[in-house]
Amino acid sequence: MPCKRFICTLVAGGMMISLSALADTPDATRQQQLLHLLKQDCGSCHGMTLQGGLGPDLLAPRMAQLPREFLIATIAKGRPGTPMPPWENLLSAGDIAWLADQLQQGVR
Ligand code: HEC
Repeated sequence: MPCKRFICTLVAGGMMISLSALADTPDATRQQQLLHLLKQDCGSCHGMTLQGGLGPDLLAPRMAQLPREFLIATIAKGRPGTPMPPWENLLSAGDIAWLADQLQQGVR
């Protein structure tokens, strides 16, 4: 059934594209949105300049000491039992990885 196989290929192909999009580096526009979110939303708990507030500071000297995967997991899943909320419903895996990199490198 060539017709069915064609549809199957389309579906599988579409899934591969959306899966790879998950880990894509955000484009310039998205990066600006994420930096805004970092200041406004993350900043509401971690301080506008990320120097700490309700949550701990997120400054590069300390962030660089922590494993990248640990930061990604914290941002994606939050910390149950603390005010740190999960962000995986609002941000893509690529967004979260990019934010973790910004924290470790120091946000410009
Ligand atoms: C409602 C307040 C709140 C918001 C909003 C918030 N956080 Fe947090 N965050 C916390 C708290 C509180 C902790 C400390 C949790 C604990 O005690 O382990 C934390 C912990 C963290 C940690 C781990 C730090 C460490 O030293 O282990 C990271 C990374 C982090 N937050 C990133 C973010 C990012 C990025 C955002 C925005 C996308 C964000 N947070 C938004 C409250 C918040």
